[in-house]
Amino acid sequence: MGYQNLLVTREASVGIIMFNRPKVLNALNRATMVELSAAVDELDCDEGVRSVVVTGAGDKAFVAGADISELRAIADAVQGAEFAAWGQRILFKIENSSKPVIAAINGYALGGGCELAMACDIRMAADTAKLGQPEINLGIIPGYGGTQRLPRLVGKGRAKWLILTGDMITAQEALRIGLVDFVVPADELMDAAKELARKIAGKAPLAVSWAKRSINVGTETDLVAACAYEASQFGLACGTEDRLEGTTAFLEKRPPQFKGK
Ligand code: CAA
Repeated sequence: MGYQNLLVTREASVGIIMFNRPKVLNALNRATMVELSAAVDELDCDEGVRSVVVTGAGDKAFVAGADISELRAIADAVQGAEFAAWGQRILFKIENSSKPVIAAINGYALGGGCELAMACDIRMAADTAKLGQPEINLGIIPGYGGTQRLPRLVGKGRAKWLILTGDMITAQEALRIGLVDFVVPADELMDAAKELARKIAGKAPLAVSWAKRSINVGTETDLVAACAYEASQFGLACGTEDRLEGTTAFLEKRPPQFKGK
């Protein structure tokens, strides 16, 4: 599909989604969310794509949140609840995508932008990035999963600190509390994110997908059920040609050639 608010590209086996509304700091209006949903589906279905990087256009913002003019226009409580649930469904698409998704946080990741980054599998931030959930300053609360994913990543106390004050934090502080996984110099961010994406893209794709799913499903359930689920996904991986290739290549002391079969 043609995109107005995103740039969707491919570099070898890495798909790249770039939010492209820099004049409004890549704020997520409805049209952008519709396109994001389509782009995630498109890359998920593309067998040539094995990992995805999500980032923002310009050097100022990753995504500065939901579009505040659209938030202002919400008519009532029911519309508000539907707005949030709809956005959550789109972020779940990222979380549940069969491909690993890396957020390359190149600037402000605020509100829905921080929530979007948290729905990704790995977060890499520029040393100039700022993150936060400032919804409280607008008289609302996070609506794209922020009250849930943030405490799961950083703990309840730190999540409450960030959500109840609306404070923005630096990339370094975000790294310290576990909100991001890597901080790199701003001018190296995209290269570093793509290198990580390429590294994962070189692994057995089905095993990558099932490892992601096992972590996602397992961390939301009790340990016994989670380990049973892991065993089932391990079993799936054992049924692949790539398992034979990976183990044979190790024993023959050569690099494996994974096919995703
Ligand atoms: N929605 C709509 N427009 C936005 C926006 C947003 N979230 N964030 C920035 N913009 C627009 C500004 O209105 C401005 O437009 P104009 O040039 O037409 O005036 C332009 O982007 C540039 O922004 P600023 O002039 O404000 O830039 P700055 O450098 O002075 O400040 C900022 C940067 C601190 C990020 C500031 O723009 C800001 O606070 N933005 C809002 C952040 C926010 O509150 N996000 C949460 C939204 S609510 C949400 O996301 C709910 C949810 O959970 C889904």
